[in-house]
Amino acid sequence: MNRVDGRAKVTGAATYSAEYQLPNLVYAFLVTSSIAKGRIQSIDAKSAERAPGVIAVISHLNAIKVPGNADNEHPTEPSTTGQPLRVFYDNKVYSNGQPIAMVVADTLERAQYAAGLVKVKYSPEKHQTEFESNKNRAILPAQAKKDKKSPLADYDRGQVDGYKTAPVKIEAEYIQPTEVHNPMELQAIVAHWEAEDRLTVYDKVQGTQPTQKAFAKEWKIPEKNVKVIAKFVGGAFGNGLHNWPHETAAIIAAKQVKRPVKLVLSREQMFFMVGYRPYTWQKVSIGATPDGKIVGITHEAIGQTSTYEEFTESTLQQTRMMYASPNVSTRYRILPLDVSTPIWMRGPGEATGSYALESAMDEMAFALNMDPIEFRLRNYTESDPEKKLPWSTKFLKECYQAGAERIGWNKRGLKPGTVRSGEWLVGYGMGVGTFGANRRPASVLARLRADGTLLLQSAVTDIGPGTGTAMVQIAADAMGLAPDKIIFQLGDSDYPQAPNQGGSAIVASVGSAVVDACKSLKQKLLGFAATQNGQFQNLSAEDLTFADGQLALVKNPAVKLAYADVLKKQNLPELTVSVDSKPGDERKNYSMYSYSVHFAKVHVHPVTGEVRVKKAVACADAGTIVNQKTAGNQMIGGFTGGIGMALQEAAVMDHRFGRYITKDFAEYHVPVHADVPQIDVYFVNKPDTLVDPMGTKGIGEIAIIGVAPAIANAIFNATGKRIRELPITPDKLI
Ligand code: MOS
Repeated sequence: MNRVDGRAKVTGAATYSAEYQLPNLVYAFLVTSSIAKGRIQSIDAKSAERAPGVIAVISHLNAIKVPGNADNEHPTEPSTTGQPLRVFYDNKVYSNGQPIAMVVADTLERAQYAAGLVKVKYSPEKHQTEFESNKNRAILPAQAKKDKKSPLADYDRGQVDGYKTAPVKIEAEYIQPTEVHNPMELQAIVAHWEAEDRLTVYDKVQGTQPTQKAFAKEWKIPEKNVKVIAKFVGGAFGNGLHNWPHETAAIIAAKQVKRPVKLVLSREQMFFMVGYRPYTWQKVSIGATPDGKIVGITHEAIGQTSTYEEFTESTLQQTRMMYASPNVSTRYRILPLDVSTPIWMRGPGEATGSYALESAMDEMAFALNMDPIEFRLRNYTESDPEKKLPWSTKFLKECYQAGAERIGWNKRGLKPGTVRSGEWLVGYGMGVGTFGANRRPASVLARLRADGTLLLQSAVTDIGPGTGTAMVQIAADAMGLAPDKIIFQLGDSDYPQAPNQGGSAIVASVGSAVVDACKSLKQKLLGFAATQNGQFQNLSAEDLTFADGQLALVKNPAVKLAYADVLKKQNLPELTVSVDSKPGDERKNYSMYSYSVHFAKVHVHPVTGEVRVKKAVACADAGTIVNQKTAGNQMIGGFTGGIGMALQEAAVMDHRFGRYITKDFAEYHVPVHADVPQIDVYFVNKPDTLVDPMGTKGIGEIAIIGVAPAIANAIFNATGKRIRELPITPDKLI
């Protein structure tokens, strides 16, 4: 099935946050700091204020007070909700590119022009933005200090650093540089105070209700007084999972000038203040027996964060559960630097962790002179060695097999640098990915109408995976109704409860609520049918079929009633149910993960170091696939992001100023069509009904997790060169 919103998107009918027009709307543009640490000495806004069309210049000198800031006095405290940075609060600068003032004007161009006239003087302090030289200042995250059982705490299974006792050992360090989400759609918000205590925002976010909660807390108004609209999101990759200072800045401005304010970040500003994948150092040590049994794995990681907020991610999770090693140690630290706060990005944690783990697995297979798939199969685990629970489902072996066939693994040379195509070196590599198959509580409102259509509502957003389309299909199956009779409305905090669209959990969470809502509707229809037609009396749902908008007897399909007729006979214009859906106890008894195995065939030019990904195969065990097209799109998008991670993406900072010098798409490279081969997607497509009633498991994160190591391993296989710092650019290969 095609995307339900495809036509709206390609014709421009879809309205994104930056496109909302309200009466009396004014435009804002941010002024950002040009130092990484220190204090603002003075702000001279005189010429900006005199510039044409300017309505206000707002900074800490004149900004109205945000009531919630009083509860948030300590910016270094972790896990603060809403705005830990407290925009326009005082004269402190925590990172280069931090919003420090804002011009509001009658047009965007006038606001932008006047922003350039604002003169700022600073008292700079010595900043620390460089990772390597500060690595020894890394700390245990507060959550791990508080809770020894936290996944962020040090973990030991068996002997601490048990790898050391093995006859064959490898130890390797890996660097993942800072990467920036930079989706096509710029971060944008239209903030509108409908009354003194009633706020509406059209905001580019991944969760309408989490944003609603954050702003209600920040402005100390009831949640119901905050309305968040995010009908269409033009990609986010995780940076919409946090509320950022620019959002609060726009809300402050709207309150101050008493008009709706539109703020759209510039592409350059997108590199500085809305999160990124943190620079991460890792060391993986593996010990094994000569016949390829892993004796121990130790995986250490340090990820960068800001000085005012602790960002953490599950970098080491895959290492704890993927292989049947009797000894596993993991140690995770964070390094606060004078930079803005990172945020989850494209397979957060695991994408970084699997780069190191799956590269190290390849290094060990090479040390053992063993095929990397064979090495992994010898350490395959049929139950979760971390949680000591059975897997709900695990079809990883099927992924190894299908991928190996499709990529042509049998053409791979065990010895690197032995296969050529003309003057190019040819290499094959693979990498494994996993991510928790999560399901969260969610609610859905379902309205079956007497015209035979079904309307569903959920506060969830659709950042691109095709959530709306999948929900229509799930409802069509669950209700026995044609998809074109179903409308799924989303992206409004007034709709029933839904979590952030993040962590690959939305189909399982909201889809389950859709199934439950349809079940409830069918039950009610049966109740009415029994009163309308004697043949439907004393029946249970199993005695009936629900298909083509009709209920019919299993025993005698000729006896049937259309849903619409049942409602009409009841004199009901519509039948409404509202259901809350949440996972049950099965989560305690099973370990639930999605899996991916990515394969790459690369050509490397021995003279220029140019790498070409010639063939790509993305295999996934993600349970039942609801929509082959949209699910396949996610795998293609994830692999494409993985090519960026492996070969191109790095935010480069000039540490003299603590400022990124890669701040546009000319300098910060992402894959373009010419960099991406045809990506062959394979789904095992077997249900996991312990995760949810549809049998689905998440796809979004595993689409990228494992891609970067697959490419790095293919490059090693082609060249014999092991590059342990991403991205693998030509200079590292010559
Ligand atoms: Mo994702 S990084 O869960 O948007």
